[in-house]
Amino acid sequence: MNYESVLAGLPDAVIAVDETLRVIFWNAAAEELTERSARRTAGRGLKEIFAPDASVVRRLDETLATGESRSEPEALLERPDHRTVPVSIVTAPLFARDSAVEGAVAVLRDLSRIRQLEAEVRRGETLAAAGRMAVGLAHEIRNPLGAIRGAVQLLGRELAPDSSLHEYTRVLLTEVDRVNRIIEMLLDLARPASVRPVPLNAHQLLERVALLTEETARERRISLVRRYDPSLPPILGDEDRLVQVFHNLVRNAVEAMPGGGTLTLATRVSLDPLFGKMDHGGGPRGMVEVQVLDEGPGIPAEARARIFDPFFTTKERGLGLGLAICHQVLEQHRGAIQIQSAPGRGTTVTCFLPIAR
Ligand SMILES: Nc1ncnc2c1ncn2[C@@H]1O[C@H](COP(=O)(O)OP(=O)(O)OP(=O)(O)O)[C@@H](O)[C@H]1O
Ligand SMILES: [Mg+2]
Repeated sequence: MNYESVLAGLPDAVIAVDETLRVIFWNAAAEELTERSARRTAGRGLKEIFAPDASVVRRLDETLATGESRSEPEALLERPDHRTVPVSIVTAPLFARDSAVEGAVAVLRDLSRIRQLEAEVRRGETLAAAGRMAVGLAHEIRNPLGAIRGAVQLLGRELAPDSSLHEYTRVLLTEVDRVNRIIEMLLDLARPASVRPVPLNAHQLLERVALLTEETARERRISLVRRYDPSLPPILGDEDRLVQVFHNLVRNAVEAMPGGGTLTLATRVSLDPLFGKMDHGGGPRGMVEVQVLDEGPGIPAEARARIFDPFFTTKERGLGLGLAICHQVLEQHRGAIQIQSAPGRGTTVTCFLPIAR
């Protein structure tokens, strides 16, 4: 049996060093995890490859010195571009025939997927808590707000047409409406199970959203481009919820281009290897992609991991609920949402939705 090929094929990264910490083995998973090739690491000292105080270096060092195994359930590994990945590390000594320590091996497991799942669970919990709070609040706040709104409108009618106080009533109304919108959004998070999917024409939904956006777009010198696939099959979805998703995405795109630009709405049948077909029980189902593209500044890497978290916002007047709601609605549709963005090159948000059949 060829043990080297067994090690090479392991999904965990395996790194072996001799007693002077020179690399003697570096499998494919190690190449992928560390983003350093086996060819370039072979024979080199581990302290030149990683920082001398990196966890993996320290643990292997200890194992060589003591002949004992070491483990670190949660360490950080630095990639050549200085990004870090969470990993677990286990080391073990390699003994020569005379039972002297002649080397050591480290097994590193990538924890980022687990961290991502944990973040999803936390996000779900925050959503549920926000939702519960909203239901209580909404009741208490909506009625007095309704009264305030009515009173302000009456006040506006009593004012002389040329009164400078009209400006104040206008501000009052916009702000009352804003608070109402906040409550509506929180309530949306609170009633998660309310999707009723029926066959829908995605283009009609997009056109409803486009209609709502056209005026703002004109004001901000944003041109709206449509790139629709004319033979797009009907999707299976809940009309109101999906309009809400597209509206949130389009609003984000508009807000990302204060100096104008092009906002593109695109559709196509998905060929994505991961999301292009999804099994919801009853066999794989084809998916459609609905995309909103902007030419804004893009989303910086630090923000990327948090944009779906409820209440994460970088905007002065943002709530940080738009994308959290989109994520939730797409999950309820058994679809997916994906964001591609490079600083300076705009943002593309892709919604994957099941084809009706
Ligand atoms: N198209 C985009 N371009 C650049 N950044 C974006 C884009 N879409 C979202 N973001 C970033 O993600 C954050 C979260 O977006 P999200 O829609 O959830 O909340 P928001 O827009 O800040 O507030 P709101 O609740 O009003 O939607 C934004 O604050 C922004 O930093
Ligand atoms: Mg938003």
